[in-house]
Amino acid sequence: MSTVKRVLMAPQGPEFSELVQGYWRLGAWEMDIQARLTFIKQHIEMGISTVDHAAIYDGGDCETLFGEALKRDPAIRQQIEIVSKFGINGIATSKTEKRVSHYDSSKQAILSSTENSLQRLGVEQLDLLLVHRPDFLMDADQVAEAFSALKQSGKVKHFGVSNFTTSQFDLLQSRLDMPLVTNQVEFNPINVDALADGTFNQLQQYRVRPMAWSCLAGGAIFSAATEQGVRLRATLSALAEELGAQSIVQVIYAWILKHPSNPVALLGTGNINRVKDAVDALALNMNHEQWYRVWVASKGVSVP
Ligand SMILES: NC(=O)c1ccc[n+]([C@@H]2O[C@H](COP(=O)([O-])OP(=O)(O)OC[C@H]3O[C@@H](n4cnc5c(N)ncnc54)[C@H](OP(=O)(O)O)[C@@H]3O)[C@@H](O)[C@H]2O)c1
Repeated sequence: MSTVKRVLMAPQGPEFSELVQGYWRLGAWEMDIQARLTFIKQHIEMGISTVDHAAIYDGGDCETLFGEALKRDPAIRQQIEIVSKFGINGIATSKTEKRVSHYDSSKQAILSSTENSLQRLGVEQLDLLLVHRPDFLMDADQVAEAFSALKQSGKVKHFGVSNFTTSQFDLLQSRLDMPLVTNQVEFNPINVDALADGTFNQLQQYRVRPMAWSCLAGGAIFSAATEQGVRLRATLSALAEELGAQSIVQVIYAWILKHPSNPVALLGTGNINRVKDAVDALALNMNHEQWYRVWVASKGVSVP
């Protein structure tokens, strides 16, 4: 079996595993506490030590479910790096209130969301806290104040963003006295925007690694009935055969990890055999022409 490397996320940033286990779908996996604990131990055993959470996932329940498993074997905390996010407020359920889902990155919202995440997870410190989505009302000075307070109190080690444009990244960075250590963005053969909108260029420039979410397009790569989906599956299957890969999933991870901005890839599966399949992708080497075949299948046109 291949080994999952530990990688530096940014200069003065944390070390993470180059594959990160995402926990967004934990509620849907319907695992009891013991099964959750076993799953966590199995991916740690494979070298996947970094886990991705967010305050909004199942309204906080994903962090609670994970925290319950950690409580059963507290020694695990020392073997993992925990990422969480703040900033998305869901729709109020009260019938009397008409509210909409919205973003809030005010200082108070950041502090209280982080406190709640720590309590649900049952840990003293997050390794990395991300702004989940750019808030149009983001006051970068307030975010900086909150980050600085969380750093000083030891509640958070490192900070980053998710789904930020390059100018939003620069704006926030300009007010911080510590580096943003990632921009977690969607990247998969169906959605290749980060290649051309400057996101990956900026991160490569700063030597900051992207975290790629929904690498399998949330499963749509297997089912999309669009012309793009059909083209991609044909190309990925042909490449799997050429590369000696066991699945198109392995080709996709090899394709994502080849980008010179050095992304780390988030896994979304709750199936440990599929996690292992992703780990085995790390042994694959794709050449430039093979990489571009996926790009061409995604776009439906050749390069100019
Ligand atoms: N920052 C953000 O805004 C943001 C947004 C979305 C996600 N994320 C993070 O990224 C993580 C991954 O996202 P994702 O869950 O959408 O990832 P994904 O890997 O694109 O999709 C995973 C889904 O594909 C399914 N799937 C079907 N066949 C599969 C196969 N052969 N191999 C693997 N999976 C297969 C999985 O089902 P099974 O479980 O049955 O295998 C699962 O439901 C999340 O957990 C979360 O931590 C972040």
